[in-house]
Amino acid sequence: MNRLTEMLGCRFPILQGAMSFVSNPELVAAVSEAGGFGVLASAPITDPEILKVQIEATRSITAKPFGVNLVGFNPRTMAMAQVVVDMGIDAVTLSAGFSASLVGFLGEHGVTVLQVVANVAHAAKAEAAGVDAIIAEGCESGGAQGTGGASTLVLVPQVVDAVTVPVVAAGGIADRRGFLAAAALGASGVQMGSRFLASRECIAHSRCKEVMCRADDQATTLLPVGRSNVRVVRTPVVSEYLANPDPVVLDHLMSASGQVLLDGRIDLGPMASGQVIGMIHEIKSVREIIEELMAIPSEPVGGLVD
Ligand SMILES: Cc1cc2nc3c(=O)[nH]c(=O)nc-3n(C[C@H](O)[C@H](O)[C@H](O)COP(=O)(O)O)c2cc1C
Repeated sequence: MNRLTEMLGCRFPILQGAMSFVSNPELVAAVSEAGGFGVLASAPITDPEILKVQIEATRSITAKPFGVNLVGFNPRTMAMAQVVVDMGIDAVTLSAGFSASLVGFLGEHGVTVLQVVANVAHAAKAEAAGVDAIIAEGCESGGAQGTGGASTLVLVPQVVDAVTVPVVAAGGIADRRGFLAAAALGASGVQMGSRFLASRECIAHSRCKEVMCRADDQATTLLPVGRSNVRVVRTPVVSEYLANPDPVVLDHLMSASGQVLLDGRIDLGPMASGQVIGMIHEIKSVREIIEELMAIPSEPVGGLVD
């Protein structure tokens, strides 16, 4: 797994998936400091100046490389891309849509582009447009889903066979077993969201972290939003909505996403999380999470470490 680390300039092939509202400078810096690759979220940001401030804040706490996520649905995406270029960000993950002109713009300015996809056709199209890597995200992942519906186990090897650029496996990975499985499928690295959401450094409210630690294998569900689905925890508010779906109510619930994650108001709207929360039972530090994935003992053990 080193084509990816060379490309991103990090020690380990572990990306922290961008998470709206919570992948803030502290989480991103903690991941990059621990040898992974932190990624700032920009989806809920409407003012590019705020992205600039977040990049500066991240740089004030780490000298390690980190990236920015840009999403197709944000009307300010081109302005955000300009900030990325102006601020000298080395790598961007693109998700929730694909834009050849955006890929071209970033590429021309020397920005490494990783495109998130949920199917093989989108992976091939992104490679043809010049992206540097593909993030193949299976349907078990937390948050918004691309069109596809294939699980990570099924999707990743098919994307690996279809493209020549490095492939990052995303969705359903939280520990070394998942990391090794991704490597066996041909991935050059992994992207994790939910596991980092349940980390000590993540700003998410403790109530949200408790929900994750109590979750089992059936704890999440897909919520239809627009033309796609969002994987969320099956909290009472979600079950009530699914029993009586109504687009007006949905808009209202979705608009509370920030309050849900930051204030722990899980009664106000859905909380995005992946199926993998069923195997997350403990809040750990980002460093512990990464070192466990890489099988690095956190404390020197006599005889095993110099
Ligand atoms: C709370 C939450 C918010 C997310 N927000 C974004 C986002 O803004 N942009 C994005 O590309 N992916 C987003 N994702 C997806 C993650 O970046 C990542 O790909 C996904 O969580 C991987 O699956 P996992 O949860 O099984 O690890 C989000 C995921 C979660 C759990």
